[in-house]
Amino acid sequence: MAKDGTTEVRPWRDLREWLEVCRQQGELRTFSSEVDTDEELAAITFLAARNKSEAYLFENPKGVGMPSRVLSNMLGASAKRYALAVGLDPSLSTRELIAATRRLLKKRVPPREVQPDDAPVFENSFTGDNINLLNYPAPKFWPGDGGRFFGTGNVTFIRNPDSGLVNAGVYRQMLHGPKTIGINMVPGRHGIRNCHKWWERGEPCPVLVAYGTDPAMFMAATQAYKQSESELDGAGGLIGAPVEVTRGRFVDLPIPARAEFVIEGFIHADRQEVEGPLGEFHGFYSGAAAPKPVIDVKAIHHRTNPILTAALMANYPSGEIGAYHAIMRSARICDTLEDLGLQGIVSAYAHPGSASGYGFVAVSIKQTYPGHAAQVLALTAQMPAAAYCTKYIVVVDDDVDPTDIDDVLWAMTTMANPADDIDVLRQTWTFRSDPSLQPEDRPYGSKALINACRPHNQLGKPPHRAYLRREIYDRVVSRWAELGLDGVPPHIDRFHCGN
Ligand SMILES: Cc1cc2nc3c(=O)[nH]c(=O)nc-3n(C[C@H](O)[C@H](O)[C@H](O)COP(=O)(O)O)c2cc1C
Repeated sequence: MAKDGTTEVRPWRDLREWLEVCRQQGELRTFSSEVDTDEELAAITFLAARNKSEAYLFENPKGVGMPSRVLSNMLGASAKRYALAVGLDPSLSTRELIAATRRLLKKRVPPREVQPDDAPVFENSFTGDNINLLNYPAPKFWPGDGGRFFGTGNVTFIRNPDSGLVNAGVYRQMLHGPKTIGINMVPGRHGIRNCHKWWERGEPCPVLVAYGTDPAMFMAATQAYKQSESELDGAGGLIGAPVEVTRGRFVDLPIPARAEFVIEGFIHADRQEVEGPLGEFHGFYSGAAAPKPVIDVKAIHHRTNPILTAALMANYPSGEIGAYHAIMRSARICDTLEDLGLQGIVSAYAHPGSASGYGFVAVSIKQTYPGHAAQVLALTAQMPAAAYCTKYIVVVDDDVDPTDIDDVLWAMTTMANPADDIDVLRQTWTFRSDPSLQPEDRPYGSKALINACRPHNQLGKPPHRAYLRREIYDRVVSRWAELGLDGVPPHIDRFHCGN
């Protein structure tokens, strides 16, 4: 392992090779018996993943017209699979993974173009009347879903026609027919902003969707990179190698050459079909069925026996938005705070149990000036990396581990005085089906800012925190085995000062 926590070699080039690595590490379970994509596949994933377990490869989805497979729980609640996917040491703690991820997120490696003949994604191509999306497995996840969803674990590429930069995002895609698939981009996303730019020019928006990419490409697409940055370069940075791309045949967009399945198409300003709802990452159906844009599919390309990535949207730990998302979101929160010029940012954690990491963020700081904690709270609450959905932002001192919920609760219940230390921001960005809001108030949420730091002007004053004496700690550690205690002694780095 290298000093920065990365492993030296990356012995895979794409999703199927990465799955082999997972299999060797006991991180992949294969189902060869027939499984119904109508709720059964989702139910298996939901129930099995309650134990935060493996990725699931369904080799025999029921009733498909073309040999194809479905992968669910690709990353899910597994910090180990996240670490494997970005070449980090899987034994690192969550806090160490966040620190290592901050280094990876700063790296940019532009994609490398390969010839179409060297792109396995072109093993099978269909255009015109030969396009039939109904031949492939598209799960219906929840009983109340508005339809079948084509993967949802996709990467969608849309170019900004002004700057020429290619954006990548992940957006749910409901299947409407053999050549039509829905696309649901939340207002404010870069994807929909680019789309509007094409429409304002009077042109349809070209789109390329890849299903079954290298997991790093998927992860990069789910992060809020700046509008001036391409997630393709970010994915290259995460894996430390260029993403191999080739050219689309109908649209001027990059095709991940080793993706399992891609579609080329156009989104027309005047064409919509009724989409949704879908049981979502917060555990509720999102919104009512409503007209949304669709992709008019011009070509399908896929590898033989492709693996379509189904992202189950569910409450943690069963949802696809789990450990990797919490770690990356936390790393981005720290980076943004430092980019804004703040000092003393120790760590942060967007706890995955809080609406898949969208609901509760703890940030630990070394307080250095009056108002420091309040500044961190306000800026975290509204930064792009944290604002969507988050309801609780807690700032804690540097002796509190933000990844340890018990430690955070300790700080909240000892350091914070609710009457003085909680502020509320109103009319903020939240999810449109937030069940805590009256329908007429949606989608405007609120955020509690909780200052669980020791008051700045009380630092160093009584009451003092009870710490162990260093010599006594060392003595107990040296006697650990003799005393018959199990495991390794807990690491402690703060000790009693004075007599
Ligand atoms: C599995 C999964 C499904 C998602 N579904 C949607 C969706 O349907 N609509 C949406 O706007 N964002 C969705 N997101 C979040 C976006 O992918 C994410 O915010 C991304 O950064 C958006 O990119 P953009 O701002 O570059 O458009 C999803 C994320 C994941 C991981």
